[in-house]
Amino acid sequence: MSFFSERANLLKPSATLSLNRKAKEMRASGLDIVNLTVGEPDFDTPDEIKEFAIKTIKDGFTKYTEEKGIKELREAICEKLEKENGLKYEPEEIVVSNGAKHSLFNIFLSILNPGDEVIIPVPYWVSYPAMVSLCGGIPVFCKFNDKFKIDTNDIKTKITKKTKALILNTPSNPTGIVYEKKEIEEIADIVISNKILCVSDEVYEKIIFDKEHISIASLSEEIKNLTVVVNGVSKTFAMTGWRIGYIASKREIADVVAKIQGQSTSAPSSISQKAAYFAIKEGDRLFENMIAEFKKRRDFLIKNLSSKIKYPYPEGAFYMFLNFNDINSNLLSKRLLEEKLVATVPGEDFGVDNYIRISYATNMENLKKAVERINEFVKENL
Ligand SMILES: Cc1ncc(COP(=O)(O)O)c(C=O)c1O
Repeated sequence: MSFFSERANLLKPSATLSLNRKAKEMRASGLDIVNLTVGEPDFDTPDEIKEFAIKTIKDGFTKYTEEKGIKELREAICEKLEKENGLKYEPEEIVVSNGAKHSLFNIFLSILNPGDEVIIPVPYWVSYPAMVSLCGGIPVFCKFNDKFKIDTNDIKTKITKKTKALILNTPSNPTGIVYEKKEIEEIADIVISNKILCVSDEVYEKIIFDKEHISIASLSEEIKNLTVVVNGVSKTFAMTGWRIGYIASKREIADVVAKIQGQSTSAPSSISQKAAYFAIKEGDRLFENMIAEFKKRRDFLIKNLSSKIKYPYPEGAFYMFLNFNDINSNLLSKRLLEEKLVATVPGEDFGVDNYIRISYATNMENLKKAVERINEFVKENL
């Protein structure tokens, strides 16, 4: 008899993890591996945020907090959403959790009954289908168009009576694409006319180049009422380890999410919440240098990667999604690692077999080495 639940067995081993393991082993054996798999900024959390957290500990702010998160943080989030995204929320409509990942998990736990469907646009962040399945739902994949954005004709054919929600992620992991206002409007129309929810994952909103991020919830009161905005401090402020994310939604959803959170983790760490409060209050000045550096790296890659490699034009996040003459992604990632010592993530984990994801959350020196080696591979094989 297996001790494990059917739920646990739903999760497939990931190709990314086994490649990461292999890359680590190769590095440990002394090989000069360039790692382009990283999903977090390579910058440290700004010192001022750390100092505020240290002061918080010294002040003794070390106890459980309200389930939804401390009021001053929720107020700061409301101010940010109003000022930067044109969204008016009350603090009671905000729930702070242990990272945006946990926020997403809480939402799916709150809205899904067994067999309910969630539309997930391909290519997707690996965790979406896993989370939906763990919460009893069924991931329904939606095709992409020639710009690697949601094929709206395909969504229409995928919506059924069981559809509860659609996930939108802009800027996107794994492609780095950013949706235009017109495209978001089209998606909003579909959400409204089918009365489903839009789970809008905006964690990369600040890592965006030459463009403005638009939150789907800002388009009208009608779509705002059907949207759960998901965001956090991990990517924007280089705070992945602090584990603070949040949702903004109408009160009835926020209350259910808080009820579930209250019985699972109670609330996120009091110290991390204070640190996130400081980061959000201070805003742009804490991360502008980092964004400028990401842009420089993105421009370097676009300029220097072999023109035989195809990719959707990256306008945000810190990823590029590359196609090498349709070579299968598992094989390509394996060969790049073994033959050129460059670690990448196969697209299979994002729902696309013939693309690989690279991350430029690494320094210029590594990127120069990576480009040289990748271009050499292209010369030898394409
Ligand atoms: C698209 C997307 N959403 C959410 C997250 C989760 O972020 P957090 O660190 O806040 O849990 C990630 C992290 O990689 C991500 O890529």
